[in-house]
Amino acid sequence: MWKGRFAQETAELVQQFGESISYDWRLYQHDVAGSIAHARAQVKAGLLSAEEFQQVDQGLREIEADITAGNFEFKTSLEDIHMNIEAELTKRIGAAGAKLHTARSRNDQVATDTRLYCRAEIDVISAGIQDLQRALLDRAEAYAGTVLPAYTHLQRGQPVTVGHHLLAYVEMLQRDLGRLADCRKRLNVSPLGSGALAGSTINLDRQQIADELGFDEVSRNSMDAVSDRDYIAEFLFAMSLCGVHLSRLSEDLILWCSAEFGFVSLSDAHTTGSSLMPQKKNPDVCEITRGKTGRLLGNLVSLLTAVKGLPLTYNRDLQEDKEPLFDSIDTLRLTLAVNAEMISAMEIREDNCREAASDPLLLATDLADWLVKQGVPFRHAHELVGKAVAESVSSGTPLDQLDLTHIDEAYTTEAGSVFSLETALAARTNPGAPSIDNVRSEIARWKALL
Ligand code: ARG
Repeated sequence: MWKGRFAQETAELVQQFGESISYDWRLYQHDVAGSIAHARAQVKAGLLSAEEFQQVDQGLREIEADITAGNFEFKTSLEDIHMNIEAELTKRIGAAGAKLHTARSRNDQVATDTRLYCRAEIDVISAGIQDLQRALLDRAEAYAGTVLPAYTHLQRGQPVTVGHHLLAYVEMLQRDLGRLADCRKRLNVSPLGSGALAGSTINLDRQQIADELGFDEVSRNSMDAVSDRDYIAEFLFAMSLCGVHLSRLSEDLILWCSAEFGFVSLSDAHTTGSSLMPQKKNPDVCEITRGKTGRLLGNLVSLLTAVKGLPLTYNRDLQEDKEPLFDSIDTLRLTLAVNAEMISAMEIREDNCREAASDPLLLATDLADWLVKQGVPFRHAHELVGKAVAESVSSGTPLDQLDLTHIDEAYTTEAGSVFSLETALAARTNPGAPSIDNVRSEIARWKALL
């Protein structure tokens, strides 16, 4: 492509080192779409005849079909997807193909392709997130009223329901969707026409190109447009955080699967056995999900690191943006799909949840609240309940069976009424709190949304 200036062929090792076709071939559909829009603008500018446009349009569509069918031979010597397609087009249609790169550089081309690619993938990943939300919602509904202990510091805290616990993840995923939608909005800007870095002396209708490609606007600074990779960083961050959420869900499920918790039973289809220990049923999907989150974070850091030291404008380092991007997309898509399937099939072991939630210490806060309602200041109530808990622990008498009245005169025999899980949950009616009615109305709200 640049033979005029050079007397020697590019060294074999340099080709091997610098090629991106082995991975950026994935951009082919967007490269073709971008080129067709560019060629149409060339017609308007009087650079390409209607007939030449027909050849370019048809040639590019045939190349696209060949790539899709697996009938296209990519050449490492042509470095990337852009040059592979352009060279093949010129080989197929001749002179009209050689005009395509007028008023364009691979710098605005790759920025355009990658934006289009990210936009499409954001839609796919968003759909995957919604599938997982639906799976969680389905399980939340099935176990809306199943009580279980909720933890802080992994120590039993207060009773909630399985429905409430699972809906917490639906909330997180909804924020992930919001971040992706926000990223999509910001990336939907057309860089085509920015050329290598300073636009072109040949003016094409940038707005027409943007409209054809579904971009909301055209970029306003050619130097920024060819060197900006913010949208990839944002996308990688949104995927990383989504991965972090999935990793936390995994950690919950791994704990819940253990004999010590025994709150959940994952299906045989979504667990694995041990080659040695016959009794094992391992939550590998959860563990791999937790493990893969490391890659998502690594990919984000890798991109940010590649960009941080770059002077304006395009530098070849930027080619390193694609593998982390592709890897995170592949990783997250599969992670979402397998988790949605696994969650749909999981069963909660309700007896074990209830048994764990029946620990009266979970209602120690409710006892303090009861004292407050009798007029005891909260700090004092906290201390009085603390004393009762200490006595329960040292005597081995469960808190709900202790004679509280001898601890302090603020306690009456009525105090024992707080030790009912049903009453305790039913009293949690504040917005966002886990009364079963609240959880059910949240489920109804989510069902209408999803
Ligand atoms: N393969 C390159 C990349 O992904 C395309 C842009 C190349 N531009 C250049 N001036 N070498 O970044």
